[in-house]
Amino acid sequence: MSVVRQVKIAAVSSYVPSGVLTNADLERMVDTSDEWILERTGIRTRHVADSQTATSDLAREAALECLSNAGVMPSELDLIIVASATPDHLFPATACIVQQSIGAARAAAFDMEIGCTGFIYAIAAGSQFVASGVYEKVLVIGAETLSRFVNWSDRTTCCLFGDGAGACLLVPGEPNQGIIGMSLGADGSSSHLLKLPAGLSRLPASHQTVDAGMHYIHMEGKAVFKFAVKIVAESVTQLLNSCGKSLDDIDLFIPHQANIRIIDSALGRLDIPREKVVINVDRYGNTSSASVPIALSEAVREGRLRRGDLVVLVAFGAGLSWGSLAIIW
Ligand code: UT7
Repeated sequence: MSVVRQVKIAAVSSYVPSGVLTNADLERMVDTSDEWILERTGIRTRHVADSQTATSDLAREAALECLSNAGVMPSELDLIIVASATPDHLFPATACIVQQSIGAARAAAFDMEIGCTGFIYAIAAGSQFVASGVYEKVLVIGAETLSRFVNWSDRTTCCLFGDGAGACLLVPGEPNQGIIGMSLGADGSSSHLLKLPAGLSRLPASHQTVDAGMHYIHMEGKAVFKFAVKIVAESVTQLLNSCGKSLDDIDLFIPHQANIRIIDSALGRLDIPREKVVINVDRYGNTSSASVPIALSEAVREGRLRRGDLVVLVAFGAGLSWGSLAIIW
């Protein structure tokens, strides 16, 4: 138990449902325009799961692809962590459903819910099991069906979110390869800015809560926006200081894909050139816990990461919460 090992990402994957909702579709649903959505958010399309598909179904597809990419059998997994703000149920854990559906009979399984920062926290947590020598193979999945929790008649939120999943397999790394730093944070005093108000112990579901739309996402967008720009810059600065790296050392920067203006403002503060940044918010919208692993997976597929590159992942969201990771690829 006293072993401390390097931890690396052995494989990545992503999966999105085939259904696509365009800004033109949204123009027919609420009082909005392609021009407003594009200019204020950078989003053109988002993927939406059909009514038969739940979060664990998206997670399963991402899990199987990740294991196939790694050449690892489900039966070899020691642990599955699913980060999601939109799990199948409050209980059982979505990770348990995935464990069964992929046939990972040996694996322990649990969920983590920390809004859009979930995947970063889940990698941070999962890597501890590998670093300590407790486990050899930990599958971390970020998966969401946000389309179930947006109010499709609220133009201030319904244009923003999308469904999807992404996964990473954590294994022991070689020297000079793997996770070299992490910076996590939370500020519960601002928890009211982004929440799903009703349906659980604070306010159980009732006809009244449903009539008031309190089972949908509520967000004070402007306040979250300001927080996001500030915290991305602060978190990344703290992260780089903690591992003795500078902004110039970053080869690839993968921010949470919530809004192109948040990404651009944060890049401006950090002075990171856009060519070092993975941006896909235009095609997926904000997929919460799935956004960073989907972007990482696309970057790997496009050959944007080489062995030895420094990649920085950063996310923020409900809680309020934030986190960043530095990884030598
Ligand atoms: O994953 C982490 C969580 N989420 C985020 O990171 C989101 C953070 N926030 C944001 O991305 C932005 O604040 C939004 C995209 C949500 C909103 O953009 P904004 O530039 O902050 O707009 P706003 O809320 O100040 O609204 C400006 C105007 C308002 O009209 P009035 O009051 O000025 O007449 C809104 O009613 O735009 C109106 N508006 C819309 N108009 C057309 C809001 N939504 C829409 C819409 N179409 N969809």
